[in-house]
Amino acid sequence: METNTITVFKGDGIGPEITDAVLAILDAAGADLDYEIFRVGAAEYEENGALIPEEGFASFEKTHVLLKSPITTPLGTGFRSLNVTLRKKYDLYANMRPAKSNAAVKTPFERVDIVMFRENTEDLYAGVEEKIDENTAHSIKIITRKCSERIVRSAFDYAVKNKRKKVTCVHKANIMKLSDGLFRDVFYEISREYPGIEAEDKIVDNVAMQLVMHPETFDVIVTENLYGDILSDLTSGLIGGLGLLPSSNMGTDFAMFEAVHGSAPDIAGKGIANPTAFLWSACMMLEHLGKQEISAKIRRAVDEVLKDGTILTPDLGGCAGTEAYTKAIIERL
Ligand code: NAI
Repeated sequence: METNTITVFKGDGIGPEITDAVLAILDAAGADLDYEIFRVGAAEYEENGALIPEEGFASFEKTHVLLKSPITTPLGTGFRSLNVTLRKKYDLYANMRPAKSNAAVKTPFERVDIVMFRENTEDLYAGVEEKIDENTAHSIKIITRKCSERIVRSAFDYAVKNKRKKVTCVHKANIMKLSDGLFRDVFYEISREYPGIEAEDKIVDNVAMQLVMHPETFDVIVTENLYGDILSDLTSGLIGGLGLLPSSNMGTDFAMFEAVHGSAPDIAGKGIANPTAFLWSACMMLEHLGKQEISAKIRRAVDEVLKDGTILTPDLGGCAGTEAYTKAIIERL
């Protein structure tokens, strides 16, 4: 893919802080990118009545590559999640969330290397909700063969390309026999096209326990939207927290890269946010753009700073701010 212009959404809360940090690192690494930067989210909504300015959509439709920092979504009433909107509008169906132990970040687990594929467009996130009466509300869970097939195929294709051994399908088909049953059936049908990869399925509650007891037994996981959302936060906890979990959201024509974490309003404006998850998301974007060497250079610099351990953000047990941590990475570059 040959493009040097990308769209950047700055988001809410810690969004602007970590965006500035990541763009400074990309520039210092020689990524040679042009940015079309837009403010999106709650602040934009309050001022201009739209979560994303029209120019922001137009830019993404031109560049096809979006680096997006987190956005606040009000609970209950209010606007629909902008993340869900973007994933649906651009059919970004494959949400990949890689959680890998880093030797420099001490956790109770040392050998975590799990790549989770979360279906990104349907399930309970399809937005089919209605209030029946004052005391009753319905949410409809939607699972289709088409969307199940393409996410399962993404997981197996990734496994083959990256020499992984096993794909685990996570579901709750013992209770939701039709919807999760369909997802599981499709998983085994598609798995027959990949004889070199072991295929297994597990029930989601069991997986929540096993991930904490024996995370090293998992390799690639493929699952539905809601289970993937919850379990990937869990996998971030295994490797040191949300500050370390990146993601890509891939469709056929568009690609969006963002950290798994949210806008962290509790630490916004304090200058202590960890930009690593967002930076690693930017590395995934560089790899998508064919800039593997620049990505590897940044990953090495981050590893060195983490290993050195003197300049770390508070979530990793240090007392450095975002700016000092960013500067340390740039110095390593
Ligand atoms: P959150 O992920 O923003 O924060 C959870 C906890 O992790 C907080 O204690 C926070 O300080 C910490 N944390 C998160 N990222 C961090 C980082 N980079 N460095 C250091 N600490 C970090 O989840 P929360 O509080 O449930 O959600 C806040 C808002 O973000 C909500 O409005 C939610 O809807 C939105 N959200 C947006 C997402 C997105 O834009 N992709 C994803 C998840 C949540």
